Formats: sequence, C-alpha cells, structure tokens
Amino acid sequence: MNTQKTTDQWSSRLMFIIAATGAAVGLGNIWKFPYITGENGGGAFVLVYLGAILALGIPVLIAEVLVGRRGRQSPGHSARTLALEAHANTKWQLVGWLGLCSGFLILSFYSVIAGWAFAYVPKALMGDFDGLTAEQTGAMFGQASCDPLALLGWTTLVIVLTCVVVGKGVKKGLEGTIRVMMPGLYVLLIALAVYACWTGDTRRAIEFLFYPDFSKLSWGGVLIALGHSFFTLSLASGVMITYGAYMPSKVSIVRTSLWIALADTSVALLAGLVIYPIVFAHGLDAGQGPGLIFVTLPVAFGQMPAGSLVAGLFFIMLVFAAFTSTIAMIESVVAWLVQSKGMTRLKACVVSGTVLWVLSLLTVCSFAGVPFTQFDFMFVGKQVHNLFEVIDHLTSDILLPLCGLAMAIFAGWILKREVTSEELNASALTYSIWRFAIRWVTPVAVLAVFLNLTGVLQNN
Ligand code: TRP
Repeated sequence: MNTQKTTDQWSSRLMFIIAATGAAVGLGNIWKFPYITGENGGGAFVLVYLGAILALGIPVLIAEVLVGRRGRQSPGHSARTLALEAHANTKWQLVGWLGLCSGFLILSFYSVIAGWAFAYVPKALMGDFDGLTAEQTGAMFGQASCDPLALLGWTTLVIVLTCVVVGKGVKKGLEGTIRVMMPGLYVLLIALAVYACWTGDTRRAIEFLFYPDFSKLSWGGVLIALGHSFFTLSLASGVMITYGAYMPSKVSIVRTSLWIALADTSVALLAGLVIYPIVFAHGLDAGQGPGLIFVTLPVAFGQMPAGSLVAGLFFIMLVFAAFTSTIAMIESVVAWLVQSKGMTRLKACVVSGTVLWVLSLLTVCSFAGVPFTQFDFMFVGKQVHNLFEVIDHLTSDILLPLCGLAMAIFAGWILKREVTSEELNASALTYSIWRFAIRWVTPVAVLAVFLNLTGVLQNN
C-alpha cells in the first residue's frame, strides 16, 4: 500500500494540547453535557461522568494518540502499520477506518448543529430575545431549526470556512486558527461563568452539579455518562489518531492526554456554571432536554441587563468550540487523501468538503421535513423519526462504542507490550495502570454501553 508518513508536526507540546483540546471541546461540552446532566438529575450523573472520563476516556485517548504517533499516518494506515509491527492480521486497520467513517458521519450532522449556533449569533446581538417567553423562544428555535434555506446557508458557511482553514495546512491554517479560538473560548467562558455566578442562583447550581443524589440516577443515565465520555473526547472518530501523528516524538503521551482530558472536562463543568445559575435564577427547567441552550437560555438572556451582549458572547463561544472540532475532523480525512491518494491539500479539501456537504443535506432535509427523510421505525433498540436520528444513533450509540471497544482490544491485547511501553515511555506504575484499564476496564465498560442498545440494562 502506497502511503507516505506525515512530516507535518505541531510546533510544540503546548500546541498539541491546545489543538487536541480544541478537537475535544465542542457542542458536546456546551450543548450536550448541560442538558444530559439536567435530564439525569445532576450531581450523581456528573460523578459517574467524571469516573468514566478517568476509567474509560483517558485510557482510550492515550491508546489513540499512541497509535497515531507511532504510525505517523492517517488512522487506517497507522493502525495497519502497527498491526504489521505486531505480526497481527492487517484487518485490524479497520479500527482506524471505522473511526474515520463514523467521525465523518458525526461531522455531517455536527456541521448542521454548528450552523444553528452560527445563526444564533446575529439573533442574539440584535436583541431578538428581548422580553420573549419560553413559548416564544421555543417557536423561534422551531422556526430557525427547520427553515430549509437558512439551514442550508449556515451549514454551507460552516463547511466552507472549515475547508478554508484546513486548506492552509497544519501550521498556518490549523495552528493559526486554534491559537486564537481556544484562548478566546476560555476567556469568554470564564467571563460568562463569573457573570452567571455573580447574578444567578449559584448556590443551587453548585448543589445541582456537585451534590450527588443517587436516587435520581437510573441505569440508563449511567450508560449515557459512559457513552458521553467517548463523544466528548472525540474518541473513535479518527481525530485523535490524526492529531497524534503530528505530535513531536519526545513528548509524554500520558501527561498530555491527562491535560487534554482535564481541559475538556473543565469546559463542560464551566459551561454548567454558566447555564445553571441562569436557569435556576429564572425558575426555568434544567431537565428540559436538547433545547436547553437554544430555548431556555434565551428567555433568561432576554430578561437580564445587557442580555444581548451576554447572549452574543455565549453563542460566539459555542461557534468557536464547534469550529475547532469540525476542523479536526476534516483534517483527518484530508490527511488521508493527501498521504495515500497523493492529492494536493487544496484538492483534498474540495473533495472532502463536497462529500461532507452532500452528506449534511441528509440532516438538513431531515430537519426541514422533506418526506423521504421522515419515517417512524425501531432502529437497533431506538425509535427513530427521521434520517438525522438514524445517523445520530448509528454513530453515537453504535459505531462509537464498537470502535472504542476494538481500539481497546487492539491496544491492550494485540499490540506488543514492548511497543506500547516504549511509545508511552511512562513509569512502571503508570504503565501498569494504563494497561490494566485498557485490557479490562474499558472493554467491560464499553460492552455495558453497547448492551444498553438491546435494552438489557435499561429496563431495570
Ligand atoms: N468531541 C466533540 C464535542 O464534544 C464531538 C465529536 C466527537 C466530534 N467526534 C467528533 C465532532 C468527530 C466532530 C467530528 O463536541
């Protein structure tokens, strides 16, 4: 197989951490985490989620960065190279390919939702939320999220901007953008958290987030927390393997992975500290579901002093977070096209951007209510209503755990001990902890997430 090793590299260890954090931090932290925490009763859910990041997320993150850095190619080829090195079946390269495919599919609906965030920036800044009730913000969201032309326009903008950045290359395009957006995101987030805690109901928010009441947590909630630890760290999407391939050789994989997980988790918790004080201060419902930041929060923005500014900053922050994830995903595909198909970066961007745009139409059509995308059937344990829900369920709930499980088995059981310990170059104790986690803890936990599909655990 003809494929070149990459010569691209991040300029420093810090840049790798910032870029990988950018890939991890996204809608999952600011949109999804707060609403699933709200739906699952708060503190106890957060505790399980933190445990899942430690026991599941971090070991797999380490494994993916390891595979990328040792292979120095795109995800499929890196996995193949390592399988060959371990004298194992080259079919193990599927771990990489499957990740790349599911990541790209995730991106097809992720760009549409990122488009919503984009659309809300001008709305917020122009004071469109002023004095609205929850019904009115609900109607506004309902309209914005299913208007075909607007959806198409904003999604196209997200994809074009992503391709422009990726087209410029790792150092100029990716680093240049991420270097501005990530600090920007943190500054906005901290400023908003201070503001929300200053003016909102901080005591209830902290109690809700950090006081564990296990009577409010169901088995279903535990499994959602496990699944989310994968989603939020962008695991099983090819992203971390791709970014690992650009990581300088001397840098410690374990230490950097810990930093990435810490940075990602802190964004999720800070987002909670922005959203809940406002939600509680205005007597809104924390468990209202996916509309939490698009429907509930605007009601509060519309009532507070300087609300349009705060709202504008909030949605700009959301756009930054989403954008650094879309960049990472397109980069993974572009890197593969450049390395193994010999395309120029520009051509690879145009090709992957076009394919992504066509795929994103499936989600756009689903929201716009186009007839062929609407149906109602059971799809692997879940009632789905449109094509978007099929893609979301297929990726987040099926491909992600499957691919994560395969990665854990590959790194823990197939790769030779000498190889992984040489690449990780960690202390004996750290290495043993990782190896135990990846061989035993992760597979068992992922299997539990996966069994969730069949409803085996969900029913009790
Ligand atoms: N980690 C991202 C977030 O929290 C979600 C994500 C996972 C993702 N895999 C991806 C985004 C692949 C784009 C492509 O928002």
